Amino acid sequence: MSVEDRLHSRGERLRELALIEGDAPMGKLLRRFWQPVAMSKSVVAGEATAVRVFGEDLTLYRSPAGVPHLVGGHCAHRLTLLHTGWVDGDEIRCIYHGWTYDGTGQCTLRPAERDTARPNIKIAAYPLYEYGGLLFGYLGDGEPPPFELPRKPCWEGNGFHVTRRQAWPSNWLQFVENSMDAVHVSFVHAIGREQGRFIQHVSQTIPELEYFETDAGIRQIATRGPGNVRLSDWTFPNNNHIIIPGPVKGGGWMHVGIWNVPIDNTHTQRMHMYSMPDLPPDQVAAFEADWAQHQNYDPVNDHDALFNDHAYPPDKYSDLTNAQDYVAQVGQGPLVDREHEILGRSDAGIALLRRLLYREMDALASGLPTKAWHPLKESVELPTQHAGAAN
Ligand code: FES
Ligand SMILES: [Fe+2]
Repeated sequence: MSVEDRLHSRGERLRELALIEGDAPMGKLLRRFWQPVAMSKSVVAGEATAVRVFGEDLTLYRSPAGVPHLVGGHCAHRLTLLHTGWVDGDEIRCIYHGWTYDGTGQCTLRPAERDTARPNIKIAAYPLYEYGGLLFGYLGDGEPPPFELPRKPCWEGNGFHVTRRQAWPSNWLQFVENSMDAVHVSFVHAIGREQGRFIQHVSQTIPELEYFETDAGIRQIATRGPGNVRLSDWTFPNNNHIIIPGPVKGGGWMHVGIWNVPIDNTHTQRMHMYSMPDLPPDQVAAFEADWAQHQNYDPVNDHDALFNDHAYPPDKYSDLTNAQDYVAQVGQGPLVDREHEILGRSDAGIALLRRLLYREMDALASGLPTKAWHPLKESVELPTQHAGAAN
């Protein structure tokens, strides 16, 4: 279907960027990239758990030897949830009548049938790649691309590495668009009394903005004055990479990678990697202990208090920043009608982001070549630290 056939009002066209379920063009585009579907620690050896991405229910399980597999969410027989069964070697067995599937989705056993031979029955199955504490799945058609785009030296090494998953009740696009909105930092993270360490380091000055396309996605440069320049490299189609003050005062800066992965059209799982790759081994335990106090905070649990009572968390480090982002972005609604949205100069990054998403989505839908994205050859220093803000 050509773009013209699908082009209606501005709001409908923008909605095409947001919708990802079923055969939606944007869902098809996102599925062509490795996407984090779960934290490694969320599925232990010999167990199974449910996962939902792109509106599709899936079963994630690990063999007793630790090999992860991602297969369909429902048994092909009477369609009960497969993760409620049990793991048997490299296979998973349904709780209901014992039908068993291997990691390719092939049904290998139907114990109550006369013909117990391997049947011609297959459920969905997707390849996985475990990296940096996250399990990445390839949910697209055909062979997966090499596992290159998500990789960066900062996610590897011996230092401090932790992950976090949050599920927020809005469409994926508004979270990705926030990645391209450096101006929000000067407002959202500096509201009234609710100022934390993040804004103290970045400052409330409204930045001058530059955005340009790179081999991997979009480079964002926000300049708030001499020596206060925040660079970030956003990787197509849904990963942002920023640096924030680390969890321990005076302990340096921390890399944060966030993949906004659609659960369905109105929910998004935000998969985080936090990393300080050069942290000396003797400090790693202290940082992990501090992180343990923050890792389970999720503003979705305080939704009513945040929206009705301005009741922000007492912690002025990551919890506050997290809650501020939640209010601003989830406050737009679960699936936004952008027909009457009014963009300004501060939205240059969002405009570029949308151009790239339209370009790639339309090319794919029209059967034309899409861009071959590659990791940046040199990673930038993210960001330069402004004078007097030694963390
Ligand atoms: S529903 Fe799974 S074996 Fe019957
Ligand atoms: Fe933010």
